[in-house]
Amino acid sequence: MNLGVLSKNREYFPTTQLLAEMDQRDINGVFLSTRFISPLIDSSDIDAFLGNQTLKALAGIIPRIGRSQTDIGLIILQQFELMNIPTTISSKALFLVRDKFRCYQALSDIPGILLPKTMLINNSYMFDKLMTSFKFPIVIKLPNATQGAGTILAPSRHGAKEIIDALFLRYDTPVMVQEYLRGSSQDTPDQIEDIRVLVVGNTILGSMRRIAPKGEWRTNYAQGATCIPHKLSEEDQELVLRIIERVKIEVAGIDLYPTHKGLYLLEVNACPGWKAFEIAHPKIRVAKSIVDYIITKIRQ
Ligand SMILES: Nc1ncnc2c1ncn2[C@@H]1O[C@H](COP(=O)(O)OP(=O)(O)O)[C@@H](O)[C@H]1O
Ligand SMILES: [Mg+2]
Repeated sequence: MNLGVLSKNREYFPTTQLLAEMDQRDINGVFLSTRFISPLIDSSDIDAFLGNQTLKALAGIIPRIGRSQTDIGLIILQQFELMNIPTTISSKALFLVRDKFRCYQALSDIPGILLPKTMLINNSYMFDKLMTSFKFPIVIKLPNATQGAGTILAPSRHGAKEIIDALFLRYDTPVMVQEYLRGSSQDTPDQIEDIRVLVVGNTILGSMRRIAPKGEWRTNYAQGATCIPHKLSEEDQELVLRIIERVKIEVAGIDLYPTHKGLYLLEVNACPGWKAFEIAHPKIRVAKSIVDYIITKIRQ
């Protein structure tokens, strides 16, 4: 069987793990660099090429599309859909969740969901008037931020205005303004943490607490968080299943933020890494679960 791993870089941890997993099973794992895929549309043919080689013989594809590759990634995914090659994420699901605000829109009416109050603003001119109902500090985010980079805590109205002015001038892009959630840690009141849930093939593989290092308010592993195993309550599991069912995401990292009011959804990550997850859960083999899942999907 030929399976593709679509990714920008062969050296990325999930990409190497997936290819190694395929190797162990006598699957021909093909590294598909997003930069070297050329989709073709013709009145009598639909194809995609890696270099000058057709990809029609691929049985399935595991996409690992990073933020910088979203636009071309969506086009490539749509091409594989036209070619009837199964993947572990649809172009529709990637489109929905890749933008944090669009994702909140899709999930806003799910029963039991708590979303942080969030406004998408497209100008800095009305900023002061728009901010009257937000308490400071506030969180400012680029809708396509990742790994904690592009998420800023603004202590005051004045500081926030400066940041937003700079973002508009530099990127000319809508900006998310969000209430700053006050966490509720299981251990000590001043510990900052959230919960990452890993989903593969519509089932919950496991979850972990990500504890921010001292002096850091973001809980991303890339920002130095310590990750320890966590067990989700049945109620929280049901919420996660409702979320993934709504956005139709098959492999995902869901970030949940515990507060005294309950568990808030922070974001849905479309191509989550799992290095930290396997440190917290050494017995869970994520690459194996993903390869199992695509094979089941191909055989259906
Ligand atoms: N509204 C918020 N209140 C408190 N902490 C937040 C809030 N938004 C983000 N964070 C912290 O910043 C981290 C990164 O934010 P997130 O929205 O998940 O973006 P990224 O895609 O960069 O991970 C979160 O894991 C959380 O620790
Ligand atoms: Mg996150």
